[in-house]
Amino acid sequence: MYGKTSQILNKFWNTIIVGMIPLNIAVMFCSVMLLGCADTSEKKIKIGLSISSLRVERWPKDRDHFVAEAEKLGAEVIVQSADEDERKQNEQVENMITQGVDVLVVIPQDSVASAQIVKAAHAEGIKVIAYDRMIRESEPDLYISFDNERIGYMQAEYLIKHKPKGNYFLLGGDPGDNNAHLLRKGQLRALQNAIDNGDIKFVADQKHWAVKWDPLDALNKTEQVLTQTNNQIDAIVASNDGTAGGVIQALQGQKLDGKVLVSGQDADIAACQRIVKGTQTMTVYKPIEHIAKEAAQAAVALAKGETVQNADQTINNGTTDIPSILLTPFQVDKDNLDDVVIKDGFHTREKVYQTE
Ligand code: BGC
Repeated sequence: MYGKTSQILNKFWNTIIVGMIPLNIAVMFCSVMLLGCADTSEKKIKIGLSISSLRVERWPKDRDHFVAEAEKLGAEVIVQSADEDERKQNEQVENMITQGVDVLVVIPQDSVASAQIVKAAHAEGIKVIAYDRMIRESEPDLYISFDNERIGYMQAEYLIKHKPKGNYFLLGGDPGDNNAHLLRKGQLRALQNAIDNGDIKFVADQKHWAVKWDPLDALNKTEQVLTQTNNQIDAIVASNDGTAGGVIQALQGQKLDGKVLVSGQDADIAACQRIVKGTQTMTVYKPIEHIAKEAAQAAVALAKGETVQNADQTINNGTTDIPSILLTPFQVDKDNLDDVVIKDGFHTREKVYQTE
């Protein structure tokens, strides 16, 4: 940047000399140029983006869109993934604080352990955005996500509409992720009437969660429940597409894939292909580019000490009300895959309809 400025200055001097402009005018112009230099050499905003893990398909997309938008706004981003280790995440963020980040954007591995991040950042006057997942027991400056309770509602509502009676298995996400609890809340709300009427019955108690959203854990838990119930399951409310993959693999083992309804979330490519094939019933699409761009814009605003324009509501995180942006998710099945997911450019038609 400095090289470019001095090139401009040189050119300017040449023009002045060639044009034989009196020295006092030249000096005046030069001062103006130097003032200009002071502007362009202003310190770049440094954003720390701490990601719990990059394993699930969506997260590298979140990262890439976030970084692209932040850079477009003139900021620099330090990105680190904690590989699903909450202690590692806290250490990485401490390191980012030492490196002098102006603002932190955190996708927490654990909604409570990450409170430490908020406290450490605030002690240094650094603002924190909880990205997609809420941070509890602390006061993050902004929460940006999709409406997760609504996503849970959409998942169960779709299944109950297509299988109004029968045996249901509820498989939650990672219990350390606040979203898993919001999803469950929405799922239970959608199923409440059918539970009260006795139209549906839970085949296992409600304490089933896929630890760390692990598809293998989802597979094992589904196998156990299939064994316990002698395969008497009609619908499985899986909380995301990764775990739906594990569920469907367990169903395949019993030749029940395509017969038992299965929900999901994220519109992962494998899930879209399963929807086409008929082994997964539905998913929930969340435009990742949208959340990533909003978050990058908010991060830059907070770093500049500005208020975040779109934070038009508050969500209580168990400690206090957090200014929030909640984006809209979309229910997707085989009938609107094209119109929602493909039309939005999330996946190509070729890939979604690709047959093995
Ligand atoms: C996100 C989901 C994701 C899951 C596993 C949740 O917090 O909302 O989109 O599939 O984490 O990474």
